[in-house]
Amino acid sequence: MSAIDDARGLLAGLGAGDPLGVWSSAGRANLIGEHTDYNEGFVLPFAIDRRTYAAVAERSDRMIRVASTFDPDPVEVDSAALAELFAGEPGAAVARGDVPEWAAYPLGVAWAALRGKPAPRGLDIAIASDVPVGAGLSSSAAIEGAAAAAFDELWSLGLAPIDQAKVGRTAENEAVGAPTGIMDQVSSIMGRTDAATFLDCRTLDVESVDLGFAREGLEVLVMDTRVAHSHATGGYRDRRDACERAAAAMGVPALRDVAVSDLDRAAELLDEVTFRRAKHIVTENARVLDTVRALRESGPRAIGELLLASHASMRDDFEISVPELDLAVDTAMSAGAIGARMTGGGFGGAAIALVEHDLVDEVCVGVTGAFEEAGYGEPRTFTVHPSDGAHRDA
Ligand code: GLA
Repeated sequence: MSAIDDARGLLAGLGAGDPLGVWSSAGRANLIGEHTDYNEGFVLPFAIDRRTYAAVAERSDRMIRVASTFDPDPVEVDSAALAELFAGEPGAAVARGDVPEWAAYPLGVAWAALRGKPAPRGLDIAIASDVPVGAGLSSSAAIEGAAAAAFDELWSLGLAPIDQAKVGRTAENEAVGAPTGIMDQVSSIMGRTDAATFLDCRTLDVESVDLGFAREGLEVLVMDTRVAHSHATGGYRDRRDACERAAAAMGVPALRDVAVSDLDRAAELLDEVTFRRAKHIVTENARVLDTVRALRESGPRAIGELLLASHASMRDDFEISVPELDLAVDTAMSAGAIGARMTGGGFGGAAIALVEHDLVDEVCVGVTGAFEEAGYGEPRTFTVHPSDGAHRDA
């Protein structure tokens, strides 16, 4: 059964009222521009052909009930009580056990979209997804995007796509408590077929950049290491703090304002580790701009070196890679990939490789074999295609 049918089936099983429709949003892979979003820099992700669906039905009261194929128990909240539920420290409701983490995504979107007002109408929402969870492909942003699109229409909120993305980020930062940037939500909601979303995370200007993968006979292979990660805790927050410290020491609002030519000065001002964190962000911003230029002027075969340089910077300077991701990248390159890099927040999850269509099988076999030899768990490999963002499906 497809994920859209799963969502419909789950909704029917709730004994819900009349179905109002199905909305969905995409997972995403980031082509380049990692951890640059919360530094007000540049990112170049694309929405993928793995989606999360929200099937929604009418209620006669003002309750919001969410159900998911991840959890047998639906969660029901009075929409007028959302503000109280999510008051206090970021993520407090989840930490207290008042709401399971998965439900904090759609309920957090409802809370952020309603801004303290009760819902104009209560809703039952059933969620199903074929975005792999924990692979660094933004299964969470896909839930947020599907929920935001549904609420926008059903509550007549008049939110532009970029505002739906902001609502998703607020849900993630405040309700779930993960201090992430806005890349995933913008990519999930505003993606286009065969294109990447070039986002300036300071101005929130979005441009579509033609990728031409299909035309050129290229595939993006995801190599999911299945090493688990979480952005609500630990390393992600730590890197964000280091970036903020570096910007403050450099006397700028964000590392976006530091140029590659300022790095000598940064080396004098910052301790060795903080300098390397800042260096990753500064050089990564430059690589995003170079990648956009290369795609526009020369096409996708010209971006391999930039992808590799990005991975090296994350491995050596930002230190967010893990041995499994490095092995996936190195093996894909030895098997003939054009370029490869880890994608997403790091500390686990997936790497992507840009591969000639005819070489995909060889790269998959190579990576799986290398993992076996290294004694790592079996990776999951599959291709993804740049796809459309959020929309109504039915
Ligand atoms: C996660 C976050 C994003 C971004 C990436 C790293 O996916 O949700 O906001 O910071 O990590 O680029």
